[in-house]
Amino acid sequence: MLYIGIDLGTSAVKLLLMDALGDIKKIVSKEYPIFFPHTGWSEQNPEDWYNATIAGLKELTSDCDRTQINGLSFSGQMHGLVLLDEKDQVIRPAILWNDGRTQKECDYLNNEIGREKLSQYTANIALTGFTAPKILWVKNNEPDNFNKIKKIMLPKDYLAYRLTGNHCTDVSDASGMLLLDVKNKCWSKEMIQILGISEDQLASVHESSDVIGTVKESVANDLGFSNNVHVIMGGGDQAVAAVGTGTVGDGMCNISLGTSGVVFIASKSFAVDEHNALHAFAHADHKYHLMGVTLSAAASNKWWMDEIIGTKDYATEQKGITELGKNNVFFLPYLMGERTPHNNPDARGTFIGMTMNTTREDMTQAVLEGVAYSLRDCLDIARSLGVKIERTRINGGGAKSPLWKKIIANVMNVTVDTINSEEGPAFGAAILACVGCKEYATVEEATSKLIQVIDSVEPDSTLVAAYEEQYKKFVQLYPALKGVFEVMK
Ligand code: XUL
Repeated sequence: MLYIGIDLGTSAVKLLLMDALGDIKKIVSKEYPIFFPHTGWSEQNPEDWYNATIAGLKELTSDCDRTQINGLSFSGQMHGLVLLDEKDQVIRPAILWNDGRTQKECDYLNNEIGREKLSQYTANIALTGFTAPKILWVKNNEPDNFNKIKKIMLPKDYLAYRLTGNHCTDVSDASGMLLLDVKNKCWSKEMIQILGISEDQLASVHESSDVIGTVKESVANDLGFSNNVHVIMGGGDQAVAAVGTGTVGDGMCNISLGTSGVVFIASKSFAVDEHNALHAFAHADHKYHLMGVTLSAAASNKWWMDEIIGTKDYATEQKGITELGKNNVFFLPYLMGERTPHNNPDARGTFIGMTMNTTREDMTQAVLEGVAYSLRDCLDIARSLGVKIERTRINGGGAKSPLWKKIIANVMNVTVDTINSEEGPAFGAAILACVGCKEYATVEEATSKLIQVIDSVEPDSTLVAAYEEQYKKFVQLYPALKGVFEVMK
């Protein structure tokens, strides 16, 4: 039997076809545009996601026996707000995870409702990227649109709806809405009241490996699929990427170097840190996890390479970088503001420390290091909670760079493990499809059979010491610049 993982990302949808033994047959990717209508805003058209997914599914399955396709599932960019009217038409463009327009609404939620209450209701506090503040923003700024809302959906849930006709979501993605009672995995009655919505405007909540329906007939006919292709709910991209790297169960860590950068820690029990500095979410393996997010990780490198230097050849550009732990140039990767630990949408990308001797390589290195320092900010919060992390898995586009993995191993003082599949979220989604179709009894059983570590980068004590000194300088930069970001907004 064949299984499909659909990873609905920010720049493209990636589709992966594999069998139940994890043998990947084909991978296809289809891009779509992202719109920045104002500084700090970020939107996409759900119709673009759907069209790209259908085109991708056709190409993905063009040379396989389509009667063998048994199930498909999703990994989705998280937190995005998709609004449907009573005819299930999209009301306005989706407001994405990296959109920073909701500061006022977050201030209201965090200060007037109060962080303590939010944390008690949802295990988290309001951050500009989360979905609930976006709902309030629409209520405050686009009342006509607010009044039209019949269903509130997350990005991948919209795709699942278009394929099945069912309005469903999963616990991992719903955790990032600030609407889910994460501990009990149900909608928070209090949050529903605070937002002035009703529970029937929300999707039904499922575990990520639950079957939510089959591909509906009209779509199946168009795709050449049988009428019994199971649709499995899937999850938020970080939780599903963690499934795709085998970061499940208790105490394991994964770093994702995608558009955003994430430190993800799987945990068998529910936990929240005292300051809500890390996100406390439900995991796609039916358990929980903690997570810190730097908003522009591989996106910082892509911006620097593609837009500023003007090259697509990242490997050649990185070849000239040989002196690690000594750079005088620092980069703060806050091109879309920052989430963990600063929670500040007005923070900005910054280079500092250049002299007449600074080279292009120094600047490129500073970008890679700045992202690593920012991930270390996240890891240090987890360490301060007593979580012991000595090794991590890694995935995402940035993980293709051996240099970046070496920098991360030494900045964080962890062993960085590369596993047998580089396809984190799409692979994780296909694994969830296998579990939903009962090829494996649990997500943990599937990952233990399908995922192996194939390479490890060990930290080097001299470099670790050098980077410790560099990191001490890095952590002084944001407090020194905070007031400047305030003036510049
Ligand atoms: C997670 C997050 C990102 C987005 C896009 O909290 O904001 O991972 O899901 O990748």
